[in-house]
Amino acid sequence: MREAGVTVVTVGVFSWARLEPRPGERDFGWLDRVLDLLHAGGIGVFLATPTASPPPWLGHRWPETLPVDEAGHRLLYGARNQFCPSAPVYRERALALVRDLADRYAAHPALAAWHVGNELGPTCHCDATAGHFRRWLRDRYGSLDALNDAWGTAFWSQRYGDWEEVLPPRLAPYVRNPAQRLDFRRFTSDALLEHYLAERAVLRRLAPGVPVTTNFISLSPQVDQWTWAGEEDLVSVDLYPDPEDPGAPAAGALGCDAARSLGGGRPWALMEQAPSAVNWRRRNLAKRPGQMRLWSLQAVARGADAVCFFQWRASRAGAEKFHSGMLPHAGADTRVHREVRALGADLARLGTLAGSRVDARVAILLDWQSWWAVELEAHPRQDLALLDLVAAWYRPLWEAGIAADLAHPAGDLSGYDLVLAPNLYLAGAATAASLEAYVHAGGHLAVGFFSGVVDECDRVHAGGCPGPLRPLLGLRVEEFLPLAGGETLRCASDRLGAFTGSLWAEHVRAEGAEVIATVSGGDLDGLPVVLRNFHGDGSAWYVGTRPDEPGLDALLREVCAGAGVRPAVAGLPPGVEAVRRGDVLFLLNHGERPVDVALEGPCVDLLSGARLDGAVALARFGAAALRPR
Ligand code: GLA
Repeated sequence: MREAGVTVVTVGVFSWARLEPRPGERDFGWLDRVLDLLHAGGIGVFLATPTASPPPWLGHRWPETLPVDEAGHRLLYGARNQFCPSAPVYRERALALVRDLADRYAAHPALAAWHVGNELGPTCHCDATAGHFRRWLRDRYGSLDALNDAWGTAFWSQRYGDWEEVLPPRLAPYVRNPAQRLDFRRFTSDALLEHYLAERAVLRRLAPGVPVTTNFISLSPQVDQWTWAGEEDLVSVDLYPDPEDPGAPAAGALGCDAARSLGGGRPWALMEQAPSAVNWRRRNLAKRPGQMRLWSLQAVARGADAVCFFQWRASRAGAEKFHSGMLPHAGADTRVHREVRALGADLARLGTLAGSRVDARVAILLDWQSWWAVELEAHPRQDLALLDLVAAWYRPLWEAGIAADLAHPAGDLSGYDLVLAPNLYLAGAATAASLEAYVHAGGHLAVGFFSGVVDECDRVHAGGCPGPLRPLLGLRVEEFLPLAGGETLRCASDRLGAFTGSLWAEHVRAEGAEVIATVSGGDLDGLPVVLRNFHGDGSAWYVGTRPDEPGLDALLREVCAGAGVRPAVAGLPPGVEAVRRGDVLFLLNHGERPVDVALEGPCVDLLSGARLDGAVALARFGAAALRPR
């Protein structure tokens, strides 16, 4: 590890059965040795609480700690993550072990941070969960009448007359109540958070001042990462872009930007990435030579102060034996391990960047609650995937070298020149007021189709969408008209040029907004599809379809220009990512071919040590970290 430049490791994830081999017993000897050895080698530890994977004895003796799926099946031990956060025995046992762990290691010199659980997110539908869900609902709604109203239970005779009748959404003959399902997602996120907070309370009490984190699956819908991140001292994420996906570099960048934004711009930790291949996709492609370094540097460029991996040594047994490790089965004399060592040296050269920030003038709105709601069933189309829409709008920014944060719609947007909302299906009064105030004060906003459709209870806004955003956007949608498979919408615009839309169309009526593009041909011929409304000192755009790539490029060029947003570097060659962190400009070549990028002035490449002027040459998968001199 020392030779590879490793300075911090995560230890103890999923180690419950090792630490507590039988109920109430403790075996810390092995962990003492590991922590002491690491410390002696100058390596710090993110010490994990082992509670994400209880040992078989817990489920065997107390089956009520095991999670139950929607169909009422209890999921057994034999894999991992088999726990119900609402089960009292699970919580007691988990907290007792966390207490002893914290007691033992609070003052250990290797301890750098606590890592609670792992990718917390499992869902349970058991009876204890039902009771917990009812308590959560009572808190939220106060009365059964208010719950009935919020869930629209007049429909299909779903009215509840007694709290005991209220259940988590379980398997049922037909489409289940969407507001119930949405609330259950909120509840599940909160129930897990409650457990995280209980662990955190123990850790903070016994080890005051040691930062606490839990690793998110990057941009995963499991929990509301905004709420959770507010309870972390350090945001950490696991990021696994697919080497087979040509969109992986942009997807990785988006994941990094999300991690940074969740922490309000603070440096974050890449807790896990694969040294090369994973083993859980249908096809598990290796990272190409140079790609692991490039994607690691991408994380640093986008604000990470730690770049870690799953896993150090490739395991020889168990479910993940074909997952890559920093030290492969074939040993240290391997391509992957050589690249790991080279990365260690690179990261040491970037030490002066620690703590510095990325300044983004653009925010992309992402609200987990709206995400959950838009992907519920029985919608105009079933295949709307929020992240696809977000990724589509992110791509042109990424290609142009325009840094973007992710933001919550009801958060403080005043620092941004431009705010993009690829989709905001759920928009209640708080979101509408926030966006209105932002634009009124001179901000620029662009909103995608099927937005402003429902309130917090998933009830449709009367009067047509975008509901409470109508005055701001200056338009009304009369009808949703999803497109048939393969069907496209031809669109014409003097400003944007001709483009096509896919997936979605709408019958839009301008109510004050200026029409920027119209549909040409078909039933919607001549109707608006892109509009812009001036409001207060700012402007608000609306896009009623999913434009093709040239269409989105043109649209975002126009929107960015109107908002005065400029790229980090003008005229980037295709495939080159540019992002500025502090005073350092990162140039990352994701392309297969070497390229030259023109420089604005004399600088030094922190990675190579070269003093440069005029241009920098980037090899295939090459990178430069340029500081002006
Ligand atoms: C997740 C887990 C790890 C490991 C990796 C494999 O991120 O946290 O324990 O299973 O996936 O990619």
